[in-house]
Amino acid sequence: MTFDSTHIRSFIPDDVYEATKKDVLKARAQLHEGTIKGSDYLGWLPGNPLSDETVDKIIAKADDLKKEIEVLVVIGIGGSYLGAKAAMDALSPYFNDESVEVIFAGHQISESYLSELIEYLKTKDFAINVISKSGTTTEPALAFRLLKRLLIEHVGPKTAQSLIVATTDPNQGALRALADQEGYETFDVPSDIGGRFSVFSAVGIFPMAVKGIDVKAFLKGAKTAATTYQKDAADAIDYATLRQSLYRTGKKIEILVTYEPKLKFTAEWWKQLFGESEGKDGRGLFVASAGFSTDLHSLGQMIQDGEKVFFETVISVEDPLAETRVPIDQKNLDGLNYLADRPVAWVNEKARIATQIAHVDGNVPNAHIALKELSAEAYGELLYFFCYVVALSGAASGVNPFDQPGVEAYKVNMFALLGKPGFEEAKKKLDAQKK
Ligand code: PA5
Repeated sequence: MTFDSTHIRSFIPDDVYEATKKDVLKARAQLHEGTIKGSDYLGWLPGNPLSDETVDKIIAKADDLKKEIEVLVVIGIGGSYLGAKAAMDALSPYFNDESVEVIFAGHQISESYLSELIEYLKTKDFAINVISKSGTTTEPALAFRLLKRLLIEHVGPKTAQSLIVATTDPNQGALRALADQEGYETFDVPSDIGGRFSVFSAVGIFPMAVKGIDVKAFLKGAKTAATTYQKDAADAIDYATLRQSLYRTGKKIEILVTYEPKLKFTAEWWKQLFGESEGKDGRGLFVASAGFSTDLHSLGQMIQDGEKVFFETVISVEDPLAETRVPIDQKNLDGLNYLADRPVAWVNEKARIATQIAHVDGNVPNAHIALKELSAEAYGELLYFFCYVVALSGAASGVNPFDQPGVEAYKVNMFALLGKPGFEEAKKKLDAQKK
């Protein structure tokens, strides 16, 4: 993986860059000393937070399950689903995917979705991996209640027990109590790892292993990055400094651009990571994403010509792992013979460079992350890079990058409106506001 900041650095005055870098370096020192704000949540910092024994146990359970099922339903929301979804999309083939089908649930509250999913699962052999660190989040709890009943109806309570895996806090929460009581196999979400940093724990690893992803290679990528950054984190420091410098000089939005559709959900994972880590205390870059060249035909106009409140961080993948070249056509009726024998990836790369030049000319700063290929190891390194950067960048901006107090506000109101016991006072307040 390489990080090229040439087309972003030129937009930042030297004094702003140097002052910001000082804050980033201070944050980095605090991160490794364990004195950074939110230092109780640094369990992700070593890259691979799991013992070899736990990884083997996770893979063994995944291998057992794979023999029994056609579908794995992964129930979770936010950090409890985005990492696994992002990794599966990035590392699975587009077509002819012969691995276990993985379906996500509990990441929204659509009755249509759940009704249709229940109908679909009626004819499938399926298992459930329910993931919730707190064990009390409404969306996954609701989906689990429905799908657990379906599974029991399908295979009976004893077999259902062996087809449910719960990933949750080792000691507390409703899901931990339920799983222990029902005798489900459980994996831990370590207490010192927040949801959006949990992809390297069982939260990400177990569903990925069921999908057939080489999780040892993925963890190796993260671990290698962690070890490297302890000594030399120049790119991560640069990226964190550039982001914060641009914010300090008036940019409000960072757009993560991908040129490979398999990375669409990586951008969703990234948005949660950066949005939840930095968007607090009335501050923070708003994080958005775009898939090029598709979105050049929608957002392209706005990015080129709209108000310049944003900058771009672009991810490209050099090796598509499967080559397709443009064929020669004797008639050349479409006029494309000038591309004859060129790989499609070559055309995509030219689109990236052309867009970079146009956007930089149009005053849109543009950083570039180039991945050699989408392998499990390279992908682990990429996700770790972002976790490390957000820790530096968030702390340099003065916030605690590891909490998410803002997520609680809607939950309290929703519990009150739903009539959850214990939220009677909140309900009274909401009723009074409505009058
Ligand atoms: O990053 C986070 O902490 C959140 O997005 C959580 O992952 C999300 O709210 C789900 O929480 P839980 O895993 O407790 O159900």
